[in-house]
Amino acid sequence: MKSSPAARVSASRERLSIHKPAQGAPKSSLTGDVRAGLTAAPKVLPPKYFYDEAGSELFEKICATPEYYPTRVEHNLLEEVVGEVIDLSEPDVIVELGSGSSTKTELLLQAVLSEQTSLRYIPIDVSEKALVQAGERLLRRFPPLTIDALWSDYERGLKHERVRDQQACKLFVFLGGTIGNFDHDEAVELISTVREQMADDDRFLLGADRVKDHDTLHRAYNDDSGITAQFNMNVLRVINRELDADFDLETFEHRAFYDPELSQIEMHLISKRAQQVSIRTLDLDVEFRRRESILTEISRKFTVAGLTQLLEEADMVVERHYEPENRYFSLVFARPA
Ligand code: SAH
Ligand code: AVI
Repeated sequence: MKSSPAARVSASRERLSIHKPAQGAPKSSLTGDVRAGLTAAPKVLPPKYFYDEAGSELFEKICATPEYYPTRVEHNLLEEVVGEVIDLSEPDVIVELGSGSSTKTELLLQAVLSEQTSLRYIPIDVSEKALVQAGERLLRRFPPLTIDALWSDYERGLKHERVRDQQACKLFVFLGGTIGNFDHDEAVELISTVREQMADDDRFLLGADRVKDHDTLHRAYNDDSGITAQFNMNVLRVINRELDADFDLETFEHRAFYDPELSQIEMHLISKRAQQVSIRTLDLDVEFRRRESILTEISRKFTVAGLTQLLEEADMVVERHYEPENRYFSLVFARPA
C-alpha cells in the first residue's frame, strides 16, 4: 500500500510529525459547504478551499506582488518587536493558526532559540503541502526544534490533544491578517476557542490589517499581474477536481472591491453569462444568471479600537499594541483577561 506524504514524513523524521484529526481530512466538509453555499442566495463559498497545493503557491505569489503590502509590512514590524514579544511570553510551545509557509514565524523561532535550547512548534493548517514544506525547511534551519503539525481547520486543531496536553508555556499566533477573513461573530468565536486553550501565563499574538486609503486597499486585491484573480478562480478548480464539477473558468471573472461601510474587501467570482453548472458528486445543477456573483472571501480591515473590542469580547486584554509609522498593520499582543 502506498503511504500518504504525511505518514512518510512521520516515519522518516522523528522531529516532524503531521497529525490528521480523527474526523478526517479538512476536505470532508467540502461537500456540505459547497452544497450550502451554492444553493444559498446570494451564493457564497468559504475561503478555506482556496488552499490546495496550487492555491497555497498562488498565495505566496500574491505576497510577493508590489501591490500586496500586508506581508512585507507585518514582516518588518515583527522583526522590530520580536525581542519584546518573546521576552514577555517566554514560550516553550508556539501554536500557530494558518501557518502557511511559516516565513514570518521564523523570526519568532529564531528569537526563542537564541535564548533557550528547545522549542515545540505546533502549526495548524488545512494545506498539507504547506505544512510539509515549511516543516522540512524549519527543521533544517533549527536543529533544536520539534514540530507537531496539525493538518486541520482551526477549531479542530485548537481542540486537538497535542495542543490541550501541553503543560508548558504557550504563545498562540495568528498572523497575516487572516482574522479579517471572518465576520465579527466568527472572529469572536475563533479567538474564544484560542482563549479556552490558554492558561494565565500563555499569550496571543494577532496580526490584523488596518483601515487605510481605499486606493491602496483596492490595488492590493487587484494586482496588475492578475495573480489574485488566479487565486480567486482556483476555488473553482478545486470544486471541479474534488466534486467532479464542470465550471468553465473562462466564463467567470474576478472582482474585488473595498466596502467602506463594512470596512472590508469583498472578493467575488462573477458569471459572465447565464449558465448551468453540474456538480456531479453532489448530484446538483447550479443555475447562474448573467453577472450573478459568488462571494468567495471577505477581508476585514480594523481600527485599533475595533481590535481591542474584538479581544475583549473573547475575554482577552491587549498587553501591547504595535504598528508601523504608516499604521498600515497591527500586531496585537494579548493575555487572558
Ligand atoms: N500565516 C501565513 C499564511 C496566511 S494565508 C502568512 O501570514 O503569510 C492563510 C493560511 O491559512 C493558509 O496557509 C491556509 O491554508 C490556511 N487556512 C485557511 N483557512 C483555514 C482554516 N479554516 N483552518 C486552518 N487553516 C486555514
Ligand atoms: C489570508 N488572507 C489574510 C488574505 C487576505 O488578504 O485576506 C487572503 C487573500 N485574498 C486575496 N489576497 C490575499
